Amino acid sequence: MAGPDIVNVLDLDGLSVGWPGHAPVLKELSFALPRGAHVGLVGPNGAGKTTLFHTIAGVLRAQAGSVRVMGRTVLPGQFRTETALVFQQAEDQLFCPTLAEDVAFGPRNLGLSEAEISARARAALSVCELTGLEDRPVHHLSGGEKRRACIAGALAMQPDLLLLDEPSAALDMRQRRRLIALLAKMDQAMLIASHDLELVLELCPRVIVIDQGRVCADGPAHEVLGDARLMEAHGQEVPHSLTPHYTPGHLHVRNSL
Ligand SMILES: Nc1ncnc2c1ncn2[C@@H]1O[C@H](COP(=O)(O)OP(=O)(O)OP(=O)(O)O)[C@@H](O)[C@H]1O
Ligand SMILES: [Mg+2]
Repeated sequence: MAGPDIVNVLDLDGLSVGWPGHAPVLKELSFALPRGAHVGLVGPNGAGKTTLFHTIAGVLRAQAGSVRVMGRTVLPGQFRTETALVFQQAEDQLFCPTLAEDVAFGPRNLGLSEAEISARARAALSVCELTGLEDRPVHHLSGGEKRRACIAGALAMQPDLLLLDEPSAALDMRQRRRLIALLAKMDQAMLIASHDLELVLELCPRVIVIDQGRVCADGPAHEVLGDARLMEAHGQEVPHSLTPHYTPGHLHVRNSL
């Protein structure tokens, strides 16, 4: 077990990774995430965000350098409960017949008691506002419900680090806003890979930009995302809310949808 002296949830040190039989995708990545940090991971398609998540989750092997979670080196194939990955495609993650079984799957695999399994599943479903849908077949859930079901399954593992891969993809405005409110309340450390830069800005005080497998920027969200030259160089745009615009009557009133 990690002791209270562990400051960082995640430490990447000179990490290089490639898919088997392919050239390295991630090249000499180094950064750390303190406990409870919410950090945005931004970069163009193919930059290596999902590859990084698979490496942190222990699916891919480091070719050089190291990944440590809660101070212990991640070894491929070794199951680590401290990390929970929420997949880019919800359909890749949900596979049990019902929502309740899906959310309980992880805790059940830990060999916990029935009482503990059901308490964890109930709590995770409640946090993700899915109470009442327990018996629903997972393929009958809406897109927004599926996304929250994936997060509930991750939370049921009580992880220290949540890896969220494109959490707002294909959500409507109301579901996206619901997701943001939900994630904002969580105190686990989070790495959020997203092309939704407004979401990143709302949830993450710090942003890391990666491109072609390398860290290109790492700093306060407003500085990084507000840097037009940096954003353009890596296929991004400064988010609307960081773009100065003084047109009279141009209001940013957020309704409650
Ligand atoms: N299973 C795989 N086998 C071989 N190469 C892969 C595999 N998955 C991804 N790659 C390659 O790794 C590189 C990085 O892809 P990755 O999916 O990590 O990017 P990403 O930053 O998550 O992109 P996106 O924003 O589109 O989700 C790409 O060149 C991709 O073709
Ligand atoms: Mg990806």
